[in-house]
Amino acid sequence: MKHFLNTQDLSRAELEALLVRAAEFKASPAGDQLKGRAIALVFFNASLRTRTSFELGAWQLGGHAVVLQPGKDAWPIEFEFGNVMDGDAEEHIAEVARVLSRYVDMIGVRAFPRFVDWSVDREDRVLRGFAQYATVPVINLETITHPCQELAHALALRERFGNDLRGRKYVLTWTYHPKALNTAVANSALTIATRLGMDVTLLCPTPDYVLDERYMGWARDNVAESGGSLQVSHDIDAAYSGADVVYAKSWGALPFFGNWEAEKPIRDQYRHFIVDEAKMALTNNGVFSHCLPLRRNVKATDAVMDSPACIAIEEAENRLHVQKAVMAALADR
Ligand code: CP
Repeated sequence: MKHFLNTQDLSRAELEALLVRAAEFKASPAGDQLKGRAIALVFFNASLRTRTSFELGAWQLGGHAVVLQPGKDAWPIEFEFGNVMDGDAEEHIAEVARVLSRYVDMIGVRAFPRFVDWSVDREDRVLRGFAQYATVPVINLETITHPCQELAHALALRERFGNDLRGRKYVLTWTYHPKALNTAVANSALTIATRLGMDVTLLCPTPDYVLDERYMGWARDNVAESGGSLQVSHDIDAAYSGADVVYAKSWGALPFFGNWEAEKPIRDQYRHFIVDEAKMALTNNGVFSHCLPLRRNVKATDAVMDSPACIAIEEAENRLHVQKAVMAALADR
């Protein structure tokens, strides 16, 4: 494993090893795998879970984390090539990534889309820029996918259902949010659920909310290999019926990228996609989860969030354990 950018880059054995090691860290948190080592955590966007769990995880393994927020407490960075840098950016990724590589042993990067032009955002230029120029491993802290969340989610599902998740009905449901959000967690949920061999339904209001073809393609490849299945549905009752897992996320419709004023009245018609008790009652006594943060009574009701079916807190805790596994694996290389 050179970098940790997407779980789809991992072999089945590498993915399995990370999940096993994460479970071991959960049982026995202390370690020295990062003794004398450091990680730079570069945040272009806000975070509670990712920042806290990476900082603590590095410390628990004997290492040190440096948090940088370009444009706030670090210089703004240019990612394009050939530009005359007479705007806000004070330095170029070609220098930033190489300089950080002289100080630290790995670099984590959080960089959400700019939400203006999906054809640009889908190139994941910030993460790719770090991966191109860094001479140390780069970890995706959420860009247009969220692989750390995938591992935490997978571990939480294994804890509830056992390691073999094949044949479980998994519903990734779009849910309402007043703003158009990143598709990263949805892309990731689709990727990991199909990789683990589950029978996956992507439930969304209209075909405009289907995810980018890159991730739909990964999901199709995964079910061909894992023996799971994949379908898209716009029928709430049919999708929830018999589900073992309901995973909720809100995201913006890709055809409206950069034209969110036009998307807003459409998304506002689908407030009823909220995860509530009536929908969960259709499931096979299923579990519910979300990556968090979550607006209660907008994305999911209080009753769902406070029910024993909700494993979102376990999943959030697992971020710590899986990220320690990722850092330890990258330190081993
Ligand atoms: N789920 C997640 O990544 O949380 P934060 O945005 O708080 O890091």
